[in-house]
Amino acid sequence: MGNPTLLTISGSLRKGSYNRMLLREAVAAFGPATIDEGDLNLPLYDGDLEAEKGVPDAVETLANKVKTADAIVISSPEYNKGISGVLKNAFDWISRVDGMPFKGRPTVVMSANAGRTGGETGQFMVMSCLVPLQARVLHGPMLCVASAGDEFDDEGRLNNEQYRKVLAGKMEALRAETG
Ligand SMILES: Cc1cc2nc3c(=O)[nH]c(=O)nc-3n(C[C@H](O)[C@H](O)[C@H](O)COP(=O)(O)O)c2cc1C
Repeated sequence: MGNPTLLTISGSLRKGSYNRMLLREAVAAFGPATIDEGDLNLPLYDGDLEAEKGVPDAVETLANKVKTADAIVISSPEYNKGISGVLKNAFDWISRVDGMPFKGRPTVVMSANAGRTGGETGQFMVMSCLVPLQARVLHGPMLCVASAGDEFDDEGRLNNEQYRKVLAGKMEALRAETG
């Protein structure tokens, strides 16, 4: 088999997002792969919009990336101790696409936040939302990068050895799933 396809999904749309930085580190730790990126810049889920126009093209594109990925890594900030709105919206839309795109997809979840708990509460919510989508979430030591502004250097590299070790373990486990 050639290189696996790794899909990255950031729950933050922000260009300078710490979660995007964490995803770049995840990609580096995963090893050789074809990298795909999920774009969560989608219309808000609206049953009337769906009834009138069907599932938007941007959702179909995202769902197709999910369906064809060999492995998925999601990094998202928690917002007000919950899942980020854009990520929940994407999950809701994807659940409306035929064929259960997330079903059986090996998926790792992580978070980076400014706060002391590194988004742990929101991360549990992300994992809960992945249950009905039937993603194959890999559990194990959680990676919750706390005080994220202190943990990435000017080049956006994660400079905390403990976090790097947990990240390496998670990405090794994810890669093993693509075997
Ligand atoms: C609407 C909103 C809600 C937030 N809620 C939390 C929170 O519950 N816990 C926390 O640690 N930080 C919270 N923050 C701060 C984020 O951790 C910080 O903005 C972080 O940089 C967001 O991730 P990003 O860098 O990937 O965009 C919140 C920020 C925003 C904009």
